[in-house]
Amino acid sequence: MAQYQEHPMANHEADGIKEFDNNLPRWWLYGFYFTIIFGIAYMVQYHVVGKGDVMRQEYAQELEDAKLKYKLADKKPESSAKLVAFTDAANLAEGKKMYNGEQLCHTCHREDGGGLVGPNLTNDYWIHGNSLDSIVASIKHGYPEKGMLPYGNNTPIPDEKVLQIASFILSLHGTNPPNPKAVDMAVEKEYKP
Ligand code: HEC
Repeated sequence: MAQYQEHPMANHEADGIKEFDNNLPRWWLYGFYFTIIFGIAYMVQYHVVGKGDVMRQEYAQELEDAKLKYKLADKKPESSAKLVAFTDAANLAEGKKMYNGEQLCHTCHREDGGGLVGPNLTNDYWIHGNSLDSIVASIKHGYPEKGMLPYGNNTPIPDEKVLQIASFILSLHGTNPPNPKAVDMAVEKEYKP
């Protein structure tokens, strides 16, 4: 204890516990000064000069990057985007090509949409609805338990192409193809156009 005797005592006591009034250790002090300098530099850099990105900006930037990465830029979420059917010949022809080709729709719904394994797509009777949104949903999700895979052949295609196919289906409405598949009123409902 002897070597501590010359230390000045701090001028307080609690429950008989006293404290030396030692200088703070050098290493601690320098660490402390460093945090002060760092704090000021940080504040100037981020809040005065505005060079660094604060969290809110970092977040916004990450969102932008993600949009670019996943090509979502400027696209609204599906649910809020209002779909509009194509009515021009070029897009309908494109839809028809996929319907009768790689998407295999015709194998179950027939080229003229009269229905075979799948229901007739030309009349007013539908299981899942005949709005553009319903048809797009039918195509994207498919009815695997009934044999229709998502996108007909289970290969996801861009929304634009789905819209072309759906628009083509809408264009078949009222075409009355010969020998259509019979309406099954147990599952189909009439949808007034
Ligand atoms: C393997 C057969 C098969 C293929 C291929 C197929 N479908 Fe279907 N599709 C069906 C069946 C079966 C149903 C009925 C589903 C049910 O009963 O719920 C159906 C239902 C639908 C419906 C909803 C009809 C309604 O009455 O609500 C649409 C729209 C449709 N298919 C479009 C398509 C399109 C477009 C393609 C191509 C991308 C396609 N289908 C490919 C068998 C098929």
